Formats: sequence, structure tokens, C-alpha cells
Amino acid sequence: MPYYRSVGEVPRKRHTQFRQPDGSLYAEELMGQEGFSSDSSLLYHRHAPTAILAADEFTPPAFTRAPNLPLKPRHLRTHKLDTGGSDPILGRQYLLANDDVRIGYVLADRPSPLFRDATGDHCLYVESGTLRVESPFGVLDAVAGDYVVIPTSTIHRLVPTGDQPVRLLAVEASGHIGPPKRYLSVRGQFLEHSPYCERDVRGPDAPLLVDGEEVEVLVRHRRGWTRYVYANHPFDVVGWDGHLYPWAFSIHDFEPITGRIHQPPPVHQTFQGPNFVICSFVPRKVDYHPQSIPVPYNHHNVDSDEMLFYTGGNYEARRGSGIEQGSISLHPSGFTHGPQPGAAERSIGADYFDELAVMVDTFRPLDLCDAASSCEDEGYAWTWARSV
Ligand SMILES: [Fe+2]
Repeated sequence: MPYYRSVGEVPRKRHTQFRQPDGSLYAEELMGQEGFSSDSSLLYHRHAPTAILAADEFTPPAFTRAPNLPLKPRHLRTHKLDTGGSDPILGRQYLLANDDVRIGYVLADRPSPLFRDATGDHCLYVESGTLRVESPFGVLDAVAGDYVVIPTSTIHRLVPTGDQPVRLLAVEASGHIGPPKRYLSVRGQFLEHSPYCERDVRGPDAPLLVDGEEVEVLVRHRRGWTRYVYANHPFDVVGWDGHLYPWAFSIHDFEPITGRIHQPPPVHQTFQGPNFVICSFVPRKVDYHPQSIPVPYNHHNVDSDEMLFYTGGNYEARRGSGIEQGSISLHPSGFTHGPQPGAAERSIGADYFDELAVMVDTFRPLDLCDAASSCEDEGYAWTWARSV
């Protein structure tokens, strides 16, 4: 998606004869978005990517959704979630969701099954630990601070690779996730005012080539879940090229946009999705007008719910609110929010904020899922009314 890549062996001319060492044809697959009128890639398989031996309905782990009633700002402590051993896909505990996006959290210590989400792109944020993302496109290794975008319908397997379990925030879209359009030229190149560019983006750089027969793949699709048995392992691609592939970008490569006075939230935008945006708050020099107030003003994002995941440093505006590493705050449309009491005065004279946070702003309201209730700090809504 960010730019053209070519990995492994591909024929000089697309849609022409490309033969394996035994003389048979490689199986060419075009994977394309928006009715083949948008980004696509061409993949060359050793085996037919269409050969399935069985299909059964599959029941995924269930979760509930309930409206944010009474309407309140919420504080969820993800590190308080009850997390036994789990895999990075089926072990996700969903916290917030609407029809455009599901936001889940997982502490994973074992490989996931092979999985394809035919309903939308995923953007994973690695809070801690290390993760290998395997797909027909190859391997992508991710570490703390990495975002990994996995395009719709990419069969993939997530493998925790370190001594410690991996902590992931999973943003699952009902559509496509990509860089903000305003940072791209009409031909898709990152522009000079973009906070990141092609040099900051990583993609798979070699074929993976796994052998195997009768391989299970779980598919989430638009009407449910199905478990397929494929005749051959789907990671049998000897080469591919195009603009569509899993890619990674480190939050630490996001170059903050700063100014003399407080900069508005859109300067932090990192990705856009269907009816939502993802933003990065990174360590930065803060406002340098002699009379500036570095923390944000009270604000009401009237068309959005704001979810913020606190993933490092100290978030100045929230000091005294109980926010901690791994916390999620939800500030919904219909509620004016702002710095905690005393934060504005305290911030005057600061020249640097050491904070790291991932924000998801949704245009439609976020419902609370059952895992959210199990880790909610019930006192958060009242923290602006007490002095600290
Ligand atoms: Fe806000």
C-alpha cells in the first residue's frame, strides 16, 4: 500500500507463462482492493490457492457490546485484564467496538492459527515483546512501538518470538487502513509535510515458502466464520509484486509536528480507516510561545469518540487521574474533556513532554464490550471535579 515492492521471483511480463523447475505453471493470483480499481499485488504460488478439501462453520470466542450508558468518560486498565495463556488472534479481548472498528487487547504467549480476515484491515500496535508476522508475502518482524498493518484477506499467522509474552493493541477495521490522504501525492508518494515517509516503512523482503498439506485456515468473513482445510500450505509464494502487502512502521519514527502554541489533534494523525483515524502522541518539544500552555485546552470533539491508549512516558494532562501504563481512556462525543485539575498551571514552562500514546477517534459511537467492564476504573469520570 505505501509503495511498490517486488520480492522473490516474478516473470518479466505479468499474466504470462511462468514455470516451476518441473515445467508446470506457477499459479498466479491477483489480490486487489475496491473491485480491482485500487491497490493490488500479483502473487505466484507453487500450488493452486483455490484448492480446499473441507469447510466447516467455526464458532469464535464470543464478546458482547453495550452502549456507553450512562454516557461517561471511561478508564480501562488493560493490564488488569484476566489473561491466561492465549494466542495473538483468538485470545484478543475486545474492549470497544462499533460497526466500523473493533479494538481488542491481548497478552499472547503462543502462535496463532492461520487466519484470514475477509472483513477488513488490521492495525496492530506492539506495546511490548516481539512478534513475527508470517504471510504469503513473507515475514515481517515487529518490536515494541511498531504498528503492523495487515491488509484484508491476507492469510497470516502471528508468532510471539521473545522470552516474554507479547502485548498487542489490535484495531480491526471494516475496511481499509492507510496513511492519511493529505500526506500523499496524487500518485501515492509521501509529501514533505508528512510526519513519516517511505524510508520509515518496512515490508516483507523475501519469500517464506512453508511446505505442508491439509492445512487449517480460519476465515472471518462478512456472514460469520468458516474453518477451511487447504490442500497445501498457503505460504507457498515464490515471488510477488505490487502495492498491497503487510507493512510495519515504528511509532518512534513518527516525527512530531510542533509549534509556538498548542497544535491541534490532527497533527498527530498516522493512519486513516473507514470512519476512524489513528494518531500517535510521541515524545516532543512542546509549545514555545512565551505565554504558551503546553497541555491541551478543554475540548469537545463533537463528531467523534476519542480512545487513547497510554503506552509509555508520562501523559502530563492526565496526571492525578489514575492513568497508568496500558491504560485506555474513552472520551465520548457528548462530553467535554480536558486536562485534569492543576495540569494547565503545572505544564507552564515545560519544554518537553515524554509521552507515548496511540489514539483512535471514531465518527460513530464506541460500544463497551464485556472485557471493558472487567477492567474499568469506575472513579475516572469524577476526577475532574476533585482537586489533586
Ligand atoms: Fe481529547
